[in-house]
Amino acid sequence: MTRTAPLALLFVAALPGAMAWGAMGHETVAYIASNYVSSSTKSFFQDLLGDTSADYLASVAPWADSYRYTSAGKFTAPFHYIDANDNPPSSCGVDLDRDCGAEGCIVHALQNYTTILISQEASNANLQIAAKLAGDIGQPLHCEALEIGGNGIDVQYDGEDTNLHAAWDSNIPESISGGSSQSSAKSWAEELIKEIDSGAYKAEAASWISGLCVSSAEKQTATALKWATDSNAYVCSTVIPDGISTVENKDLSGKYTTTAQPVVDLQIAKQGYRLAKWLDAIVAEIK
Ligand SMILES: *[C@@H]1O[C@H](CO)[C@@H](O)[C@H](O)[C@H]1NC(C)=O
Repeated sequence: MTRTAPLALLFVAALPGAMAWGAMGHETVAYIASNYVSSSTKSFFQDLLGDTSADYLASVAPWADSYRYTSAGKFTAPFHYIDANDNPPSSCGVDLDRDCGAEGCIVHALQNYTTILISQEASNANLQIAAKLAGDIGQPLHCEALEIGGNGIDVQYDGEDTNLHAAWDSNIPESISGGSSQSSAKSWAEELIKEIDSGAYKAEAASWISGLCVSSAEKQTATALKWATDSNAYVCSTVIPDGISTVENKDLSGKYTTTAQPVVDLQIAKQGYRLAKWLDAIVAEIK
């Protein structure tokens, strides 16, 4: 038993790539969401979190990632992804019966935490996990089984050894924002908010939230499944469009990143906007 804690820590240290959009990506999603939530949503969740600062949502992501590696939070580990057993790059797709394991998956977990938040019995831990998952579901490799969501595909980035999952979690997002700090997240969020309000995403933002509905368990599941399916499609189109052999042991910091960046921008903007509207829908359902 005495060995458990140090081993768990080693495990975390050895698996930086299993962390989902790195903290910076999650903070960006959270800052975007904070910009779009209604004022009643904002006060509801600031109350729940006991944090009235502007960073109330941005502060939650790192916690949920470390929680999954503790013994109390171990049960939440499968909630961060869905192992789509599709066949990329020739065919992508998510099938809930096929892909959501007995321990649960990100689609069921989002449904579960939506219900818990509506019930008003949520702890701040529940909200922290839920907000984290709403970000994770936009990372294409969180909706893919192949090589443990790309964790098993070795690549290099700027000459450093890493894996495909980690490149999508952190290296590519940081190539856009310019760093891993919370201030990088904040300025990236500001750029993306401009694109949503008056730029490249203005025409399509409404379609990101079409079908978003939390009024029953079925509709909550359908909403989350739609997000997962949307995200998973990028595995075929952008993550490995020409198969594993074209990325494995290659350095992805050049042309690959140039092609991936618009998808990362889009997925971060989309999940931030969706998180806001989803939290609004939850608060509306409570009244
Ligand atoms: C729903 O979330 C709660 C709170 O974290 C957890 O105790 C429960 O096991 C979850 N249920 C399912 C079916 O995942």
